[in-house]
Amino acid sequence: MAMISVRNFAKSFDDKVVHRDINFDVQPGECLGLLGGSGAGKSVILRSLIGLVKPDSGQILIDGEDITKYDERELVEIRKKVAYVFQGGALFDSLTVYDNLAYTLREHTDMTEDEMSERIHTVLAEFGLEGNDLVYPADLSGGMQKRVGLARSIIMRPEVILYDEPTAGLDPYNTKRIQEMILTLKGRGKTSVFVTHDMPSALAVCDKLALVIKGEISCIESVDKYQTDPECMIKDFIEGRFA
Ligand SMILES: Nc1ncnc2c1ncn2[C@@H]1O[C@H](COP(=O)(O)OP(=O)(O)O)[C@@H](O)[C@H]1O
Ligand SMILES: [Mg+2]
Repeated sequence: MAMISVRNFAKSFDDKVVHRDINFDVQPGECLGLLGGSGAGKSVILRSLIGLVKPDSGQILIDGEDITKYDERELVEIRKKVAYVFQGGALFDSLTVYDNLAYTLREHTDMTEDEMSERIHTVLAEFGLEGNDLVYPADLSGGMQKRVGLARSIIMRPEVILYDEPTAGLDPYNTKRIQEMILTLKGRGKTSVFVTHDMPSALAVCDKLALVIKGEISCIESVDKYQTDPECMIKDFIEGRFA
């Protein structure tokens, strides 16, 4: 069974139709790259997968359950299982790196300080962020902020991770570090959707690519097929032949 299954998803804001009929599946452990022009509605799709956007019609199945029918309490539970890595990193400026990571654990678990400390230090070490516990976000580079933001998103050990342009604006070094973080998590069997314009990263981490155009998924193709024998519009999109 697919871990994520989006069926006939439609969404308008006032009279602006963003999605007409979006359909795709992501299998357990798979990474789907979601491509599309700015304003195509990629973030709307990701937000709908954690119940932040309610579809006008259609179904959003996470591990077989239609979350469009969930109430707020059930959505809080789903957000432990499905993590959204925000475009900007979304750290709290007034909290240290340690407290940024602890915040979620304090909110959602009854872990002791020792258990939290162990979890946080393990995550920081795994991602090459050790020694930054007491640093405030403003004193980190933009790249480090994004990496800490990613670490914070996965502190609850979610099964599904939604990456919203995690490498946008990053230098090659930090881009590479983010790719490694995503590959590490993928190596643990996490399922993911990766929204990006950064094709080298998409090709490095994704199994399949999908293209969102005019409120529909115009095609889904495996990365292997895309690289050897592209058949659909993804290549034209990437090579800038349309927006
Ligand atoms: N909460 C909202 N209210 C009104 N319009 C919205 C809202 N969220 C997104 N939109 C609109 O939906 C369209 C798609 O947005 P978005 O998903 O952010 O695009 P992308 O991430 O592909 O660049 C945009 O035109 C945006 O203005
Ligand atoms: Mg977006």
